[in-house]
Amino acid sequence: MKLASLSDYLLLRINRSSAKAAPGKGKAAASRESGAAKAPKNAKPGSERMPVNRQIYQLIREAILAHTLPAGMQLPSSRDLALELGTSRNTVTYAYEQLLAEGYLESRTGAGTFVADTAPDQIPEAVERKEPLTDPSGKSELSARGALLTRQAGVGERQWGAFMPGVPDVTCVPHKIWGRLQNKHWRRSNSDLLTYGPGAGYAGLREQIAEYLRVARSVNCTPSQVLITTGIHQSIDIVVKLLGEHGDTAWVEDPCYWGTRSVLNSLGIQSVPIAVDQEGMRMRLANLRRPPRFICTTPSHQYPLGMVMSLSRRRMLLEYAATHKVWIIEDDYDSEFRYGGRPLASLQGMDTQDRVLYMGTFSKIMFPGLRIGFLVVPESLAKAFATGIAELYRNGQVFLQATLADFMAEGHFASHIRKMRVLYAERLRLLQQSINRHFGEKMTITGGEAGLHLVLGLPQECDDVLICEEALAAGIVVRPLSRYYMHARGARRGLLLGYASVPNEEIARAFDKLAAVIKPHLA
Ligand SMILES: Cc1ncc(COP(=O)(O)O)c(C=O)c1O
Repeated sequence: MKLASLSDYLLLRINRSSAKAAPGKGKAAASRESGAAKAPKNAKPGSERMPVNRQIYQLIREAILAHTLPAGMQLPSSRDLALELGTSRNTVTYAYEQLLAEGYLESRTGAGTFVADTAPDQIPEAVERKEPLTDPSGKSELSARGALLTRQAGVGERQWGAFMPGVPDVTCVPHKIWGRLQNKHWRRSNSDLLTYGPGAGYAGLREQIAEYLRVARSVNCTPSQVLITTGIHQSIDIVVKLLGEHGDTAWVEDPCYWGTRSVLNSLGIQSVPIAVDQEGMRMRLANLRRPPRFICTTPSHQYPLGMVMSLSRRRMLLEYAATHKVWIIEDDYDSEFRYGGRPLASLQGMDTQDRVLYMGTFSKIMFPGLRIGFLVVPESLAKAFATGIAELYRNGQVFLQATLADFMAEGHFASHIRKMRVLYAERLRLLQQSINRHFGEKMTITGGEAGLHLVLGLPQECDDVLICEEALAAGIVVRPLSRYYMHARGARRGLLLGYASVPNEEIARAFDKLAAVIKPHLA
């Protein structure tokens, strides 16, 4: 490309309609006089708001990448090009300097400015090429693991509103108290709180959690066994990464929380579904003959059906785990909210053989956006876990952990739980009332003694996934029970209805809308 053709190429594409162009005399001035102020036909999209110097830079860069301007070609001086374009010299100098800085151009003293040789380095032929395991459907670039994760994803786009399960009423968080405590830490500008956190998390919070768990959940631990994570997903992730191997198996309750299965799948752990009955996980002989590496369970409040694991099942699990060196992952996500009787003690508190990894979260008691959870491991593993967490995630948000520690130490945490328990019990009552008003005794309700949601059973011939889609179109968020099972065949049909985040006065109205969606499916 010669000087004349470079300037033609630029003139054709530069859009001056909104950019301030310096007065000039060359072809551009002529074209402006002839009414060329509008965007040229082949101007780049998006160039309407781009200054001319930036457009010149981009156009030359593109021409170099497309080899229209070959390596070694000399560019006109900035003065000559500016004259040709009818723009100021500074405008062209800016573009050249940027291209020089990025290596597209090189300047040779006394000779001028040239297109640099930017051909990519030679890539040697691969000696051995392993075909990656890709999406078996062949429809995407995802790996087989990525395809499985996204295909079976349980997470929904809407995370708020009637009747989103598993979400507390975040509007009730005592903002003023929280703000005061957080400000205290900001004002002190303590660099320890703003840098990466220690692997195990903020010491003050670990002490508060250990104390709380000892008293409220009969967890047997010292602060040194408590590790702060970003929630239960991360707790499972680190446990499996440090104690499991790709190809290991894990027993999971069927149905179970989708997040547990997704994290396990993503780490190459094969989930073995274990049915649940009124006493919790019910292992068959065939299961017991093949000890897994992990047993994932929600013994205090089975998710999503709500039963509590019986004492004899607990003892059996602990004994089995000790004999076969199996790790029990105890997910104790919402036991604070039990509306009848006292919350049951944790499985960890009964374990004398150090086989239980206990995990909890502040997502349900405080607010999910906090992303703080905790993991209690046997003393012998505590140091390795702290190192693993620091090495893999480099967690931060230490000032939030410090704020939460103060929130607990000043007694606000305990009173928030008490207040929310009363509120949620009332919302549960209102929802049950609405269900009865529409369906009487016809529908079964399970899991209505604890937690933040209940399960409304549907006849097996109902398509609960379709009902949820129709409900969403009517502005109501519900989740289909069948999706929590590992296989669709044999999965029970029902709807998970979260009541905790729905204001009392909205519950009846929102359920009316949902009932209108459900009724045609029952006919
Ligand atoms: C059984 C169970 N475990 C874990 C979680 C998620 O916990 P986190 O927010 O700490 O990741 C949920 C959320 O709904 C849950 O239902």
